[in-house]
Amino acid sequence: MAEVIIVRDQTEAGSVAASIFAQQISTNPCTVLGLATGSTPLSTYAALAATVAEDAIDVSGVRGFALDEYLGVPPQHPESYRSVITREVVEPLGLNPDYVFTPRGTGPGITQAGAEYEDMIAEAGGIDIQILGIGSNGHVGFNEPGSSLASTTRIKALAEQTRKDNARFFDSPDEVPTHCITQGLGTILKARQLVLLAFGANKAQAVAAALEGPVSSAVPGSVIQQHPRATVIIDESAAAGLAHAEYYRHAWRSAQILNAVSF
Ligand code: F6R
Repeated sequence: MAEVIIVRDQTEAGSVAASIFAQQISTNPCTVLGLATGSTPLSTYAALAATVAEDAIDVSGVRGFALDEYLGVPPQHPESYRSVITREVVEPLGLNPDYVFTPRGTGPGITQAGAEYEDMIAEAGGIDIQILGIGSNGHVGFNEPGSSLASTTRIKALAEQTRKDNARFFDSPDEVPTHCITQGLGTILKARQLVLLAFGANKAQAVAAALEGPVSSAVPGSVIQQHPRATVIIDESAAAGLAHAEYYRHAWRSAQILNAVSF
């Protein structure tokens, strides 16, 4: 079971998550990060950028692989995930752009792009730590409900709910791409550590189903239950549907006390 941390707000979540990432990078300066886009990871990226600015960690050897990319959106488009990752992660953290990759969403031989991306991740030694958001329909990456639990990077159709949720990033709902290329659930499970964040009441149902429901392709985020090293950081609103919230609070308080005490 994942360690579940219920926090006050996104700022606190960002600082808890950034400290997990900073710890990983201090231990291994050539860490391979798995990077999500969307609104959820922004407070983590901001807190991590602040840690880098204090010279607390050296990120010159850090590499990164984005979870997904829109299909047919050129990399230079402001809402391509290549542009978003450059704007929200590479530039603020000062990562080497040559070390940060997104799946290829355009160009010839696009049906091979997923396999190419899997090879690139494998050549980098695999992802050490993956940050995840969760869709209101339970998706992680763009693995929509029904995705194989063993899937690898491939082209997927976006669910209408996802297109509606992401319309805020485009000038009109019609501009939201219909397809994407996304790491699979099997790819995500291969990362050595997962950190999933979720905020707000519209994520409560997906969070409850992912953490406490059956592991099922109907709720792709439920694969997190199969990962041996996963942390879930959520605010009170996103935690509202959890049956065992009191236990998670108690377990997190105990873990902090145990960390502070030496026997
Ligand atoms: C983004 C991604 C998606 C988002 C999810 C939540 O790379 O793969 O799974 O994490 O759609 O999006 P936000 O954070 O915008 O609510």
